[in-house]
Amino acid sequence: MDVQPPSALDLKRAAGFKAVNLVEDGMNIGLGTGSTVHFALERLAERVHEGLHIKGVPTSLHTEFLARRLGIPLTTLDEVDLLNLAIDGADQVDQSGYLIKGRGAALTREKCVADASKFLIIVVSEEKLTDRLSGPIPVEVLPFARGHVARAIRRMGGTAVLREGADRDGPVITDNGNFILDCTFPSIADPPVLEEAIEQIPGVISCGLFTAFTKKTVVIVGQSSGVEVRSF
Ligand code: 5RP
Repeated sequence: MDVQPPSALDLKRAAGFKAVNLVEDGMNIGLGTGSTVHFALERLAERVHEGLHIKGVPTSLHTEFLARRLGIPLTTLDEVDLLNLAIDGADQVDQSGYLIKGRGAALTREKCVADASKFLIIVVSEEKLTDRLSGPIPVEVLPFARGHVARAIRRMGGTAVLREGADRDGPVITDNGNFILDCTFPSIADPPVLEEAIEQIPGVISCGLFTAFTKKTVVIVGQSSGVEVRSF
């Protein structure tokens, strides 16, 4: 009988489930966005139905609706001082623990929740690991300033492409009413410097480079050989 290797979804599920083992009774937790977090939320909901008491702060309308459907109690960043941990996905993770996030267009709320959390638990499948971040880097921009920001990105040596909606005519509109520019650079030599430079452009709401959280980041990687836990 042939034994099939685990699929990408199996690896995401394994990482998502493992992250939920870190959740303890009474915690306030950030709920990230994406297909890997989806598995974590399903497991978290099982634990809630078994009697675990937690409250979640969702990072997107998508996650809010899913959490409500699964019966996960919710709160807001206004109502909690500190989140015990946040569970979120990533598009790329390098060896220093720097991240690119935002394929799901939820980067701004994800960055707020990461900043408000004591620990950031990143759940990924192994193909997200890279020696060097390469992008594209999602950047949330005020619609009014999209041309201004795109020109500034070009002056920095990059290109900026307005993200189009998959199921609608016109651009993707974020949960905050803004646009996403997917920005590509020939190389990302110094991710913290690039993140700061992008976030200083007037009209940028936030940049999908996440470099400020490495000390509190734990990356849970679903791999064909098993689940690996990395810290930095
Ligand atoms: C959304 C994100 C996601 O966490 C990231 O895109 C990873 O998603 P997935 O787990 O579906 O691969 O940053 O803004």
